[in-house]
Amino acid sequence: MKSRGQFDIRAQREGGAPAPVPHLRRCGLSWPRYAALPGWAKLCRAYGAGVAVDSEVASKKKAGGTPALQIARAANVICLAALALLFAGCRMDMHQQPKYLPYEPTTFFDDGRSERPVVPGTVARGQLRLDELLYTGKENGVLSNKFPFPITRDDLERGRQRYNIYCTPCHDYTGSGQGIVVQRGFPPPPSYHIDRLRQAPVGHFFDVMSNGYGSMYSYASRIEPEDRWRIAAYIRVLQLSQHATEQDVPPSERPQLNQLNAGQPQ
Ligand code: HEC
Repeated sequence: MKSRGQFDIRAQREGGAPAPVPHLRRCGLSWPRYAALPGWAKLCRAYGAGVAVDSEVASKKKAGGTPALQIARAANVICLAALALLFAGCRMDMHQQPKYLPYEPTTFFDDGRSERPVVPGTVARGQLRLDELLYTGKENGVLSNKFPFPITRDDLERGRQRYNIYCTPCHDYTGSGQGIVVQRGFPPPPSYHIDRLRQAPVGHFFDVMSNGYGSMYSYASRIEPEDRWRIAAYIRVLQLSQHATEQDVPPSERPQLNQLNAGQPQ
């Protein structure tokens, strides 16, 4: 029986494949390949479909089918649902990504590391720090007393802000080394106003912030090099503030200074 034109075309294309067996059609399997599969007829019969010719099936279909056929259909649906559930978890997509996490070992390379060491001499983008003064505070390997860029009032303001944030807990607001942490037992840092530190080149302050000094840890990871220079400049301001004479105050400001002094108990 040829109820579908589509089947005819396929049969021709595949070089005259055998026509579908009637009982297979009843199970909804009209694809010629299945006819060749041995167990199918048995399986369909086991579902209770029985063997019937297509015309008979068509008339029964209109009436809703025999009870056996209804059971067979239900069994089909249950089987399909079970298969769908079974294979639902088989999707890979990007749920699992075949990749190595940082520091994960591997057996692929001899050294057992999954990441490759960088080629010697490699410099990360933006990390080529050729300016010796700016990044080390030194010139030809010697601590310098120069700033790598001109210091403006804005730089000093920024330096004061950064100093107050990062350094005052230990060095206090005037730089005498009596910060709140020290008052609670941390080893006291030297005052910035001792002669040795007043005479120290400005590069020394940059160096202390960049590499740490004795029991003081480095601030390199927290303060950008430019800001370290601004803090160093502000330390110079603090040093001047504790050693200034009246002559250092501009004449226009001096009357104000005298007023302040007059208000203070002698
Ligand atoms: C947690 C406390 C602490 C903080 C915060 C701190 N320091 Fe210090 N600093 C010290 C101590 C302690 C020393 C003395 C270290 C030693 O001699 O072993 C010191 C020493 C120094 C010295 C003197 C080095 C010398 O030649 O004797 C400088 C300059 C200095 N700090 C700058 C800074 C600056 C700038 C900051 C802020 C960016 C800062 N420190 C933040 C604890 C601190």
